Amino acid sequence: MKEAGKILSYTVSENKIRVQYENQLAEITVLREDIVNVFVPCWSPEHYSKAIEGEKAVPTVFSSVMQDGNIMIETARLKVCIGDNLRIEFAKVDGTPLMKTCSGGRKFDGEVSEQIRQILESEGHDTSNMGARHYSVELVAEMDPCDDFYGLGDKSGFLNKKNYEYENWNSDIPQAHNEDYRALYKSIPFLICKKKKGAYGLFFDNTFHSYLNLGKENPQYFYYGADNGNLDFYFLGGDTIVELVQEYTYLTGTTPLPQLWTLGYQQSRWGYENAGQIREVACKYRELDIPCDVIHFDIDYMDGYRVFTWNEKDFGEPGELFTELGQQGYKAVTIIDPGTKVDEGYFMYDEGKKNGYFATDAQGEIYANEVWPGESNYPDFGRKEVRDWWGEHHRFLVEIGAAGIWNDMNEPASFRGELPEDVVFHDGERQTNHAEMHNVYGHYMSKATFDGLRMISDKRPFVITRACYAGTQKYSTVWTGDNQSLWSHLQMLVPQLCNLGMSGFAFCGTDVGGFGADVTPELLTRWVEAACFSPLFRNHSSKGSKRQEPWLFGNEVVNIYRKYVKLRYQFLPYLYDLFYQGEKTGLPVMRPLVLHYEDDPETHNLNGEFLVGENLLVAPVLEQGATQKMVYLPEGDWYDYWTGEKKSGSQYILRDAPLDMCPIYMKAGSMIPTYDVINYVGEKPYDTLYMLATPGAASYEHFQDNGEDYSYREGVYNLYAFSKGADEKLETKMIHENYKKYDRIVLRRIDK
Ligand code: GLC
Repeated sequence: MKEAGKILSYTVSENKIRVQYENQLAEITVLREDIVNVFVPCWSPEHYSKAIEGEKAVPTVFSSVMQDGNIMIETARLKVCIGDNLRIEFAKVDGTPLMKTCSGGRKFDGEVSEQIRQILESEGHDTSNMGARHYSVELVAEMDPCDDFYGLGDKSGFLNKKNYEYENWNSDIPQAHNEDYRALYKSIPFLICKKKKGAYGLFFDNTFHSYLNLGKENPQYFYYGADNGNLDFYFLGGDTIVELVQEYTYLTGTTPLPQLWTLGYQQSRWGYENAGQIREVACKYRELDIPCDVIHFDIDYMDGYRVFTWNEKDFGEPGELFTELGQQGYKAVTIIDPGTKVDEGYFMYDEGKKNGYFATDAQGEIYANEVWPGESNYPDFGRKEVRDWWGEHHRFLVEIGAAGIWNDMNEPASFRGELPEDVVFHDGERQTNHAEMHNVYGHYMSKATFDGLRMISDKRPFVITRACYAGTQKYSTVWTGDNQSLWSHLQMLVPQLCNLGMSGFAFCGTDVGGFGADVTPELLTRWVEAACFSPLFRNHSSKGSKRQEPWLFGNEVVNIYRKYVKLRYQFLPYLYDLFYQGEKTGLPVMRPLVLHYEDDPETHNLNGEFLVGENLLVAPVLEQGATQKMVYLPEGDWYDYWTGEKKSGSQYILRDAPLDMCPIYMKAGSMIPTYDVINYVGEKPYDTLYMLATPGAASYEHFQDNGEDYSYREGVYNLYAFSKGADEKLETKMIHENYKKYDRIVLRRIDK
């Protein structure tokens, strides 16, 4: 990035401070007393944000003065110092330093000459990571030895991102997602930095290929770089990590309350090739008394992988199978890929071509690449009329009974090499290219799907996407793509879903059992134990891999599988409450311990356990052959869910964990709502609520509504305030009452 030079002058107008440097302009916007945007228009004078919708700035009192050549800005919570050459420092108003740009820029060794690079490459070495690379957009900030990093969406590896490097470039990765993978399917450039004292967040709102190096290049700094676009970042200055997540989701949106059945267990497989196979699976779950709400339809249900068509030969009349499954209590979710088959006479191709809805090459010819249907075109989802067209076509699936849509291959995937950067896409009316729109292709496809479903049905849309950008949580849930039946992938479940949660995606999950490769009975068992509290709970596997339904692995597996799926159904009202609160606060369902216990350094690198809300701690066994689990209990007392035994926190304990045991603890002084187990949501009305409680004082707010539509936003719901004192009597107060109440509310003590 070119040197900005010295500050020549600055002006203040409303909430913006415009700083004129010798070679550059910078604009500092005070959005709230805790959120400040820094915008250096090195590419365009506009922000062109795809993540943030609507005006987020609120009237905020702040001061700005020039002092010793620096511009000093102060809000009620933050101090910002802007100096020459874009030197920026953020501190809390009490002076506690937060972020400070690095005065010397980057310093690294290991420069590789072009000649050496070519030799190494000819020997098959990957040199992309060797030596220096400067970016057209760059921000380098000081790093203290104690700094820890979180967020960044679905990146592989561990919870704490310190000392690793990542890229934001949505990538379809069929290989095992080891910790050295820098980019997976999603680009969520939101970084949380936990300092010894205090924490801050940075959201880099730039959709071009970008890079984050968190002390790997040099432990004295971390840097952000991008190939193009503006330096456009939001500094979030909360007092806690919880507050940072709230601030970030204030900007990019929270995960909306889903329908209750979407929290049920779901079965999928790429390779259910006909209606008969689906019927068998559906019947078997009921026969074995394992609850299940959803059957997913992968690409086989389409006619020749043409989107919005139906394969009648193998799946019968459209609608027939969905009706039959509906009678057994199942919902159907169908996959829709963006790649539209090049095929004269196929309505999607004809309409898209006639109306100019597909992306073109730089010469204006419709661009084609290969995906499942063969030669395919790519809808230009950045344009509203293309989204409306695409959204409207979901009517066919909704009318035959599909209850949700699964969006896949939307990085976008392309089997014949990546789309060239100059393929023409649009951002609204503005013409641009693949380099800018790649990372938001899945974002806009999800928006098209969400808006389409919203228009066609009065139910809350259920969309699942593989690729996305910051802010996609407003439209879609996510799964972590093509994982594999490997212990390392099971281990990654905890950090990956926790970081997705802290990056705004409260509704996320992994393919239970692993998508690729063959699962073992033990791995499948441990996976269902670990995933039974993950927000999206779906067993999915790949064509060509061993089938993964629990009954194929013998009685022991079936019994344990049933135990954990049933446990999930018991806890449905707790998960639903967390989503209800999350829609308002932005906080996730599945949380790393560092989110609530950030002052305890022991929590900063915990990869093998997580919290569900604040009240439950889940510590699944994630290692082959292990029959004990080392569990860290944070401060306070904790009750063993299975035995009711009380344990003191701030210590590690060794818990017996034979194959059927996933250690779970409940926080002292808490209550959790539970339901009777049923086969699927809606089988029977939930007329009894059981409040599971630890001894002594506790309180809890519980939400109840029809679990399906938006009437709760018009006040059609109940909100209960439960409390219990030392007398162990449960008190119920109605905070809001406008829905059929439970017939019975029963108190259950965890220790009895
Ligand atoms: C992709 C998806 C996977 C799906 C397959 C076939 O690999 O990630 O979930 O089963 O395509 O549609």
